Parts: sequence; structure tokens; C-alpha cells
Amino acid sequence: MSQNILYVDACINRNSSRTDRLAHMYLSRCGFDGSKITHRVLEDYPIRMLNGSLLKFRNLMIEKKDYSDRLFDLAKEFSKADEIIVAAPYWDLSFPAMLKCYLEQLSVNGITFRIGGNGEFEGLCKAKRLIYITSSGGYIGDCNYGFYYIRALCRMFGIEETICYKAEGLDIDGVDVNAVLQKVAEQF
Ligand SMILES: Cc1cc2nc3c(=O)[nH]c(=O)nc-3n(C[C@H](O)[C@H](O)[C@H](O)COP(=O)(O)O)c2cc1C
Repeated sequence: MSQNILYVDACINRNSSRTDRLAHMYLSRCGFDGSKITHRVLEDYPIRMLNGSLLKFRNLMIEKKDYSDRLFDLAKEFSKADEIIVAAPYWDLSFPAMLKCYLEQLSVNGITFRIGGNGEFEGLCKAKRLIYITSSGGYIGDCNYGFYYIRALCRMFGIEETICYKAEGLDIDGVDVNAVLQKVAEQF
């Protein structure tokens, strides 16, 4: 079945990212043939950080339910995807700040979620599943804070399932990076 797949690429080491390699292994193994895959490279996208004036403008537009400004494009794209893959290296127990800026842009009342009369969140995203792919120099253990945060946001967006695949220990001397990536890919 033709699907609309969104690959959110928050990998910073362009051309040499192991996280991006793992994400591509996922995309090629998961039978998305015939599907439209949008590769959203965050480093190439002019994400505007939410400062005081931008927040004021955004709140005004949300109040008017006018989502025509390109500030809302990423949220619309995310909300319409059938499946979402997010790839981000493990940085300082989480992920690069660029991804946080992206997630702030997504969290738009009226596009990715809605707040009901009793203050409850109602998810508005089409995707049933988000796959989070990361790689780390050492071992993540129970400090997978970037994933935990995205998983919580997904609940707010109405995305029921979040799965994390992680390739760990890649910066340890003597590690066979290809073997580690292959081993993780066996779980797909
Ligand atoms: C700014 C920065 C912060 C990092 N923080 C951690 C960390 O907290 N724990 C860890 O195990 N590795 C850490 N690493 C190592 C990366 O997670 C590791 O090299 C990863 O595989 C990079 O992914 P990439 O090849 O896709 O760029 C850090 C690397 C950088 C550049």
C-alpha cells in the first residue's frame, strides 16, 4: 500500500553519520516500495527558533486559526504522515538542540493536537507509529531521555506506538561499527 513516509533527519555529521546509515537500513528493509518518502534534513531547513516576537506572532495566528504562514509547514507535514522515522545521534544524554527546535515547531494547537474543553489533549496526527533511531559513543542504559521525551510528545499528538532502535558503543576502541549496525538492523 502506498504510504506517506516522513524521515526526519537530525543527524549532524552529514555524509558520515552512523545514525543516518541505520535509518537508511530501516527504510530499505521495511518495504516502503512505492511509498512517498519525504527526507526532511533539519540542517538544511530554515527552522526559526521560537523567540519572543515569533511566539507572539504564532499565538496570534493560532488564535485566528490561520495556519497559512510557512511557520506551520513542518507541523502540517508531520501531522499528515502515515509513518514517521526520526534519526538523531545521542548527544549529552538526549539529542541535538536542532531537533528540539523542530519539535517546538510541531507542537501547534490545531494541527498536531487540540486542547479540549476540559483541558485534555487530543492528538490530531495521522501516523500510528513513530520509529526513533539513535546511535551513541558509549552505552545509553536507562538514560534515553531524548527518546522518552519524544515518546511523551507522541502521546500528546495521538501517535500510539513509539519504538526506539539504538546502536551503542560506537566510539569504543576496536568496536566493529558495521557489525553493531547490522545487529541492530536484525531487530527491524
Ligand atoms: C556533542 C556530542 C555529545 C555527545 N554525547 C554523548 C553522550 O552523552 N553519550 C554517549 O554515549 N555518546 C555521546 N556522543 C557520541 C555520539 O553519540 C556518537 O559518536 C554517535 O554515534 C554519533 O552519531 P553519528 O555518527 O550519527 O554522528 C556525543 C557526541 C557529540 C558530538
